[in-house]
Amino acid sequence: MLVIVTGVSGTGKTTLGSLLAERLQLPFFDADHFHPAENIAKMSAGHPLTDEDRVPWLKALANQLKESEVKGGAVLACSALKNTYREKLKVSENLRWIHLIGDRDLIWERMLARKNHYMKAGMLDSQFATWEKPQTGFELDISGTPEELLAESLHYLKTQPMNMKMGVIGMGVMGKSLALNLAEKGVPVSLYNRFVAGKEEGIAQKVLVENPEFSNMLAFEDLEKFVDSLEKPRRILMMIPAGAAIDAQLDTLIPHLEKDDLVIDGGNSFYMDSDRRVTRLKELNMHFLPMGVSGGEEGARKGPSIMPGGNAEGYAMVEDFLGRISAKDKNGKPCVTYVGPGGSGHFIKMVHNSIEYGEMQVLAELVHLLRFGFGCSPEEVSAIFSDWAKGELKSYLLEITADLLLFKENGEVLLDKILDQAGQKGTGAWSLITALDYGVPYSPLAEAVNARGVSGEKAMRVAFSKTFKHEFVKVNGSLEEWLPKIKSAYALARIINHEVGFRLMKTVSDTKEWSLNFNEIARIWTNGCIIRSGIMENISANYSDQISFFEIPGVKEQVVSGRKDLAEMIGLGLVNGFALPVMSAGLNYLLGRMTAESSASVIQAQRDYFGAHTYQRKDDPSGKFYHTEWTK
Ligand code: 6PG
Repeated sequence: MLVIVTGVSGTGKTTLGSLLAERLQLPFFDADHFHPAENIAKMSAGHPLTDEDRVPWLKALANQLKESEVKGGAVLACSALKNTYREKLKVSENLRWIHLIGDRDLIWERMLARKNHYMKAGMLDSQFATWEKPQTGFELDISGTPEELLAESLHYLKTQPMNMKMGVIGMGVMGKSLALNLAEKGVPVSLYNRFVAGKEEGIAQKVLVENPEFSNMLAFEDLEKFVDSLEKPRRILMMIPAGAAIDAQLDTLIPHLEKDDLVIDGGNSFYMDSDRRVTRLKELNMHFLPMGVSGGEEGARKGPSIMPGGNAEGYAMVEDFLGRISAKDKNGKPCVTYVGPGGSGHFIKMVHNSIEYGEMQVLAELVHLLRFGFGCSPEEVSAIFSDWAKGELKSYLLEITADLLLFKENGEVLLDKILDQAGQKGTGAWSLITALDYGVPYSPLAEAVNARGVSGEKAMRVAFSKTFKHEFVKVNGSLEEWLPKIKSAYALARIINHEVGFRLMKTVSDTKEWSLNFNEIARIWTNGCIIRSGIMENISANYSDQISFFEIPGVKEQVVSGRKDLAEMIGLGLVNGFALPVMSAGLNYLLGRMTAESSASVIQAQRDYFGAHTYQRKDDPSGKFYHTEWTK
């Protein structure tokens, strides 16, 4: 907290300020000590200061206040006679003013009694003439004793709510980056990180100290004080790990909250948990926004794609702030939209991540095929990807893969030193589970999850590679000849990944009656998020519920032209010992979807043969079920 005690000379600013500082356990500063030598000389000679004289002085005071806020606050005694001076000192939302107001004769007597002060009593009239009635703050009559004035001041400060517009819980990488992004965009923000002795101590305070340029942040380790610092109705963003931690945090937070307060979960929570939490807070007359945030650390700090769903009233409370901190699309519109009810914000973030898994795996498959099948160096693969990224195939993941291939550590390619076991936190697998629940074919993106699983079994892979003498075989053909086919195969594999994800979203949206707007979802994914790309621009402009995804203009042509290329490339890779799980599953999925006469007749016959499960007939459009005694 910052407190400024103001008043004309002789009102007792220093006395009250020191007492307040002592009680609040804050440092005390006297503005008189911040005057440059010229000002002191002028005042000592009995000349009043001009506005111009006061400029460097006010600047020095404002700097001191900013510095003090980062360290927890301060009390300043300062005449601050005019409202324009007071404006210059208003460095924080959490500045409190106590203006000492007194009778001229009383002050005159006090001034005459003062010794060793450069202000001459005769200047009092000039101070009174300059003094302007404050527009904000507490006006305190100085006729009482210092103790009485202290008691009144403390009472005033206690009853003054702080006005922080948002609170962020959890100062991990994402929480800290979003909090700084909010502060930078002019949103006063309170930071909270729990206290765990020896492990998490002073974490929120550290963020303040490391970022002194933002004076609109406060740090807390006490949850109640953190909540009290927020403007009502409160807006609190939780950036903590998904799962049980969210419910545990809600359990401790809710008792401090009131009707109409808003809690946002900005992590990667499972959407069904979020559905339940929306209901829980609604029953308490509070708002809950399950909110996907994509873009990693840099995105969160500079402009992420934001996917809030849940309570629409709650969204209205933060729409402006989210718009300020989000990435912007090519038309300058914020990459944030109210997604839909319940856990829909987390649901689409989950599918986003599932597509992300697929896109990452396709690139991993290509890097391997190009390096160990075609003998390309990392630099050559990087150059190919960079070239593709200049055109329609542009995507953030393609760009970063081109970049990481070039990264060297002590002259050697870092990529080759990274253990080949991929981690995962849940969103990819949850998408697969959801697809199975809703009966949506998901094999290409499911394979991205499975591939991470297989990568984890390193010991088995090493053992089997010896048992079965597995080696990558060099391709017998020229890269020049293959490259156009690989490019078109890559384009198609990516289209399939997106189709699979969007199909799951559409099915779940229809079943749950969420009415998700897929052009808008694609639009907020055109910037800020990990799967931003040229494809996403196309989907945003051309997605339609009326036609299949594969028939979108631009997409349809690539499906037609890429099919054979994808098949040839997969054939080449598989024959030469390269596992290409996502691209293979993608082609099988595509072929399956465009085959009019499928092999399922055989399955139905088998089912009826061994289990009398019945079947329907092509020559009976009534849909009647038949059973045959196959062994008779
Ligand atoms: C993003 C990312 C981000 C993170 C995921 C995936 O959109 O910014 O998807 O949310 O990378 O947590 O992590 P895993 O690969 O560990 O599952």
